[in-house]
Amino acid sequence: MAVLIVDDEQNIRRALKKYLALEGIDSACAETGAEAQERLKKERFDAVLLDLKLPDMSGQEVLAWMGRQGIASPVVMISAHGQIADAVSALKSGAKDYLVKPFDPSDLVLKLRSLLEAEKAAHPPSEKGGQEEFIGGTPLMRRLFQQIDKVASTDVTVLITGESGTGKEVAAREIHGRSRNRQEPFVAVNIGGIHEGLMESELFGHEKGAFTGAVNRKAGLFELAGQGCLFLDEIGEMPLPLQVKLLRVLQERKIRRLGGMSDLPVGARIVSATNRDLEAMVREGRFREDLYYRINVFRINLPPLRERQEDIPVLGDYLLRKLALRMGRSAPALAPEAAEKLRSYSYPGNIRELENILERALIYSDGRSIAAEDLDFHRLRDAAAANSLESVEREAIRSALIRYQGNRTKAAEELGISRKTIQNKIKQYGLDPLRGF
Ligand SMILES: Nc1ncnc2c1ncn2[C@@H]1O[C@H](COP(=O)(O)OP(=O)(O)OP(=O)(O)O)[C@@H](O)[C@H]1O
Ligand SMILES: [Mg+2]
Repeated sequence: MAVLIVDDEQNIRRALKKYLALEGIDSACAETGAEAQERLKKERFDAVLLDLKLPDMSGQEVLAWMGRQGIASPVVMISAHGQIADAVSALKSGAKDYLVKPFDPSDLVLKLRSLLEAEKAAHPPSEKGGQEEFIGGTPLMRRLFQQIDKVASTDVTVLITGESGTGKEVAAREIHGRSRNRQEPFVAVNIGGIHEGLMESELFGHEKGAFTGAVNRKAGLFELAGQGCLFLDEIGEMPLPLQVKLLRVLQERKIRRLGGMSDLPVGARIVSATNRDLEAMVREGRFREDLYYRINVFRINLPPLRERQEDIPVLGDYLLRKLALRMGRSAPALAPEAAEKLRSYSYPGNIRELENILERALIYSDGRSIAAEDLDFHRLRDAAAANSLESVEREAIRSALIRYQGNRTKAAEELGISRKTIQNKIKQYGLDPLRGF
């Protein structure tokens, strides 16, 4: 839960922020009406705590502005003693509740919690559990839907391939969502994101005392997926020694926790995904051929967005609605020139890139419609290039540190940078040589 506190008195902002933090409620602060508007344009809050009297405008004005912008976060007005009449009229114009200063912060927390409950009851999650929709009307996509439907009714192992951002995870969820075991868990794991040393215990679990640090028994992801679906994302990142173990599990449909004495059956369907060329990896000896055949029983290949350009307007529309909802705003329309501009771009980052462009456009736009100049492709690409540069650098430092067991001087020497620089980078990237990163 995140709350925006709008009050011009620093003491009140500080005290409330602290109190809410103790209650496990996140908060941000704004000192003026204008500052509150800035934040509300950019972020979604579960509630807004609004002082009636602000230096630049009244709380009432902020409330009315929120209404015009379609910002639906519930508002609790804070009034001073002589202003109760104003607080009441604020209630009439849409505030959900009010508090009179000085108030007991525990009252505030009660009010916030009950507001949240009321919101939840008013907008129950859809039957699909807030799941994403899978959009696509081109012949290519329709064929894909048929494939998904067909495979969903079986419990066959699936491999989903496609460039980054083409919807591999959405497709995996869709397969599970249409299967007869859809009530069972869908467990997703990003193989590229787990440290190699922990992967085995993450996947298969461990018994208490199986290794130093295994203070309790832990169920692995195979176990957690039960009769549902285990989604092995970025399977191409799995190190060879683990590939052997995974192969054995898939062949025998049994797992054994690390340090365990008995086998447990594997009941979940396995769906893997990768944006790598696994066939090439097999040829180069970086991916086991036998494992490749095991996971590639049914293949679904997601086309890049540039090969389904007719879908861009529908996808754009859907993503705008989704993003606006997430920001608690109503979805703006797409101006015709903006729609045209969207259609003519090539999207190396596919649907994820389209989504990022629209998210930024939403923030820049006036809230009612997206104009062509709100769409900025290049800034985003520059940021992505900078990000990938950073991740390359981070990885180089991380592996040098591992090679030299955390010895910064040696790692810095190997990388040809100074000790001071490596210190700074370790801090910048949150690498902790003592904890094995
Ligand atoms: N067919 C679709 N309909 C609607 N939204 C989609 C569709 N495909 C993807 N998306 C949206 O695009 C974004 C990227 O999708 P997803 O995470 O599934 O891609 P991915 O192929 O797994 O990417 P990566 O390789 O980068 O992990 C998500 O926000 C998702 O909601
Ligand atoms: Mg993914």
